[in-house]
Amino acid sequence: MNDESDRRQDGAADVAFEPRITAFVCNWCTYTGADLAGTSRLHMASNVRIIRLPCTGRIDPLFIIKAFERGADGVIVSGCHPADCHYTSGNYHARRRFAVFHDLMEFIGVDPRRMTFSWVSASEGAKWRDVVDEAVRSVRELGPYDAYRALAPVGDREI
Ligand code: FES
Repeated sequence: MNDESDRRQDGAADVAFEPRITAFVCNWCTYTGADLAGTSRLHMASNVRIIRLPCTGRIDPLFIIKAFERGADGVIVSGCHPADCHYTSGNYHARRRFAVFHDLMEFIGVDPRRMTFSWVSASEGAKWRDVVDEAVRSVRELGPYDAYRALAPVGDREI
């Protein structure tokens, strides 16, 4: 049995566990959608820390690996819907890159349920709330990601 399933059987640990989720979002759609969710006062999990980038095409898969190394239990990547990218095709590049990256992460043993990929537009505050709540629920079930953090250099373990 691995560490994750051991932790899931420990009910006391699960109650106290609050997942840390890092979200890489594009400035033009998802960030604005997340802002709309906030200004609309939608209730959602508060476990997400947002890193805003110009476009999902700018998101290097290494950012995700670093997030896990630095203490994230899960990662969200979200940008403009297909055909809505403000840089024409950045999200298409991201979609292709992450299809390969997703398979690679699975191959090296990272549970894909720790990664969420979505498209959220500037008018979809409610969708952002749903993406966040679903990602937090999914990662909470999996438990803390200590197994991955243990691989990181000691000085890099906390975000
Ligand atoms: Fe949003 Fe490119 S600007 S994905």
